Order: sequence, then C-alpha cells, then structure tokens
Amino acid sequence: MADQAKKLREIMGNKESRSRNTTRIIAVSSGKGGVGKTNIAINLALAYAELGKKVTVMDADLGLANVNVVLGVIPKYNLYHLIRKQKKMKEIIMDTNYGIKIVAGASGFSKIANLSEEERNRFIQELNELSNSDVIIVDTGAGVSNNVISFIAAADDVIIVTTPEPTAITDAYGIIKIIATEIDNIDLGLKLVVNRVNSVVEGKKVANRVINIAGHFLNLKVDYLGFVYNDKLVQNAVIKQRPFFNIDPNSKASICIKHIVGRLENIEFKEGGGITRFLKKLFGN
Ligand SMILES: Nc1ncnc2c1ncn2[C@@H]1O[C@H](COP(=O)(O)OP(=O)(O)O)[C@@H](O)[C@H]1O
Ligand SMILES: [Mg+2]
Repeated sequence: MADQAKKLREIMGNKESRSRNTTRIIAVSSGKGGVGKTNIAINLALAYAELGKKVTVMDADLGLANVNVVLGVIPKYNLYHLIRKQKKMKEIIMDTNYGIKIVAGASGFSKIANLSEEERNRFIQELNELSNSDVIIVDTGAGVSNNVISFIAAADDVIIVTTPEPTAITDAYGIIKIIATEIDNIDLGLKLVVNRVNSVVEGKKVANRVINIAGHFLNLKVDYLGFVYNDKLVQNAVIKQRPFFNIDPNSKASICIKHIVGRLENIEFKEGGGITRFLKKLFGN
C-alpha cells in the first residue's frame, strides 16, 4: 500500500507543485464510525465559504455516504456514475444552497467500495480537475480500506476525528498507527479534532492522550487542531437536514468550527479576551 500511496502522490503532484494552483486538500477521517466526520467536513466547508473561499466537499465514504443527506440535497449523479464511467467528475459536481459544492458519494454499493488501483488513480486524477476550488474537503470512510489510505495520502492535511469515548480514542490511535505504517516518507500534517466534548479541559485531555501515545509509540507528531462541543443543535440540524453552521453560525458548535478554520489558516488565536477580536478578524462580523 505504501507503493500505491507513492504513486498517488506522483499523480496528484507534491505539495509544492500543487501549491501553484493553491488547492488545499483536507481529508477528514476517523477510526470509529459515527464520531462526526461528515458534520465536521460539511460545516468546516461552510465556515471556509464564509471566508470567501471556493470549497468542494467530496463524499469519499464509499460504504456509508451521507454528505447529501446531511445537506438535504438529492443528487442526480454520484460517484457511482463516475466509477462506472457513465459520468465525468465535472458532471457530478453539484452546487448547493450553502455556497459550497459537493461531490456526492455512492452509498450502499459495497461492490465498488473497494476500487482497483487503476480505478482509484483515475478517480484521483479527475478529482484534480476540481482544482478551481481553493479547498477540497474529503469526507473519507472510517477505518482503513485502501480507499481511505489513498485519500489520506493525497491530502495536504489529515484531520482525525475522535470523541471522548474510550473506543473512539483507541480507534483513533489505531488509524494513526496504520497511517504511520502505510504512508511513510510523506510529510503528512496529522491533526486531531475531539468532537462532542463537554468542556475545554475534556478536549485537551483526550487530545493529550492520543498525541502522547502517538509520540511515544510511533514517534509521530500529531497536532491538536481543536474540539467541537457536544451540542444538541448538531443532532437537530441532522434531523432538519441543514448544516448547523447555517442554522446558527453563533452556536457553540459553530464557534468551535470557526476556531478550527482559524487554526488551519494559521490566523493567530489568543485565548480569553482575544476570541471576539479573532473571530472578527476571521469572519469580519
Ligand atoms: N458535536 C456534536 N454534538 C452533538 N451531536 C453530534 C455532534 N457531532 C455528531 N453528533 C451526532 O453524531 C451523529 C453522527 O455524526 P456524523 O457526522 O454522521 O458521523 P460520521 O460521519 O463520523 O459517521 C450525528 O448525526 C449527530 O447526531
Ligand atoms: Mg459520515
């Protein structure tokens, strides 16, 4: 798999060559399912769009695709048609009412959930056609299939999502370990988001656990990117099939998402009194 990852990087170009068209590819992944990948991917996209960036979310969870469900849109075509060569990537890119574009996933097609290497490579090439986006956020499946590893290998940043649940933490470490083993010699920016926390301290504690284990056993640096509060709005938003950032950009969860974008964009963040100023600087309101 390490070889495949290398090939993929050749196709995608390395960070320097890709930086000419300045598309930033962010993969959102996790060990365990149901930890909030899709919600974080979509709402990050909305926050980026609010900053004036052109953003595309690609639903690369070929097992349980649901980006379109959370957004309440019914796509005409999805990755299934792309993989079956019935449609081109350009034809399956879809506008939404939220200022972001999506590439819908192919849920329930277990047969195609594991693409051949050739199919995956073609797929990645076509993804490159999206480069008129400033940011491409890839919602990968949970766990480790070849597909997940490929998308991770092709990304500039990899966000690993966990919750404070012990099983989610263990699985987060598990996928970090596999990434470290499968994708060597690749300068990956591994970043951790702790979702569904009840306090700042809880987020930090969980993050430190993962970061310390990864540092100690894998000699791997993982950055703590931030947390998202456990917020009833997120569940309500999913039921309404509208992104929570759109329902209430000033909710606890939305503010957390803004902070995460701020850290990704290296906008200086001062805790305490600086928050309002920081958010003003970031979002201009
Ligand atoms: N910050 C949060 N606060 C409250 N509930 C959340 C939060 N994040 C996720 N959830 C709940 O978890 C469910 C699964 O989230 P989802 O983004 O679909 O996870 P994944 O993509 O990792 O499978 C959501 O439908 C929602 O009910
Ligand atoms: Mg999901």
